[in-house]
Amino acid sequence: MRFDVITLFPAMFAAITDHGITSRAHELGLWSLKTWNPRDFTADAHRTVDDRPYGGGPGMVMMAEPLTLAVEAIRRDSGRDGGAVRVVALAPNGTPLTDARVRQWAQRQDGQQASLALVCGRYEGIDQRFLDTCVDEVVSVGDFVMSGGEISAMALIDAVVRQLPGALKEASAEEESFVTGLLDGPHYTRPESWRGQDVPAVLVSGHHADIAAWRRREALRATLGRPELLEQARAQGQLSARDEKDLREFAQQGAADGVRCMQ
Ligand SMILES: C[S@@+](CC[C@H](N)C(=O)[O-])C[C@H]1O[C@@H](n2cnc3c(N)ncnc32)[C@H](O)[C@@H]1O
Repeated sequence: MRFDVITLFPAMFAAITDHGITSRAHELGLWSLKTWNPRDFTADAHRTVDDRPYGGGPGMVMMAEPLTLAVEAIRRDSGRDGGAVRVVALAPNGTPLTDARVRQWAQRQDGQQASLALVCGRYEGIDQRFLDTCVDEVVSVGDFVMSGGEISAMALIDAVVRQLPGALKEASAEEESFVTGLLDGPHYTRPESWRGQDVPAVLVSGHHADIAAWRRREALRATLGRPELLEQARAQGQLSARDEKDLREFAQQGAADGVRCMQ
């Protein structure tokens, strides 16, 4: 899979090319990264990429022209017809990034590797005319504001890359949060007893069915604080009668705990 990133800070991306799972997948050739600095698409001596906002107000706004030239260069460089490169801008007012969207991007499209061009904003943001004409979608990584789009772009790339076949050594992606519609439950490792706390007995029982049932129940418990995820799992038929029974039990326990707290 190919990623092109338009950024004023290309060196930041060493965080994902040089470390961990994304680095290994990069070395294996599962994904490639090319950065494009908007300053290389300017015509003035100062290599200006931003200017004051019309209407006044604080901060600066990234200009449309250098970003547009960068997108055009990416389209030429990718050697595909324009539609094959999907241009995604990162911004707090974008559509929230989800596991489902990440998995779509990781899939091959029409037998071809997907190609994403990510646009990292800085300052107060990007001239809307560029977003309206050159960008296919705007994505947010959460309801908070960061100083630039680079960390968001890296979060997106990391999430997509680990879904590419061969990126993970084990099939662990199939047991992770969201795959079953639920969040992941707790994990334990050695020693079996640590500072007076024992690992749950079932995990050392060697009984695979009991362990699977315990993990499912703990995943349900972990998802209790996210009713929208439970509702979605229910709507998609991912909750069994056993799950529903466990959820009712958790709700009763919660109500009982609430009463105890008030006493
Ligand atoms: C300081 S922010 C701009 C904030 C913008 N004026 C606002 O109030 O929403 C600069 C850049 O950081 C990136 N950014 C910040 N927070 C983000 C988030 N939650 N998701 C994705 N990108 C974000 C965007 O690329 C944005 O253009």
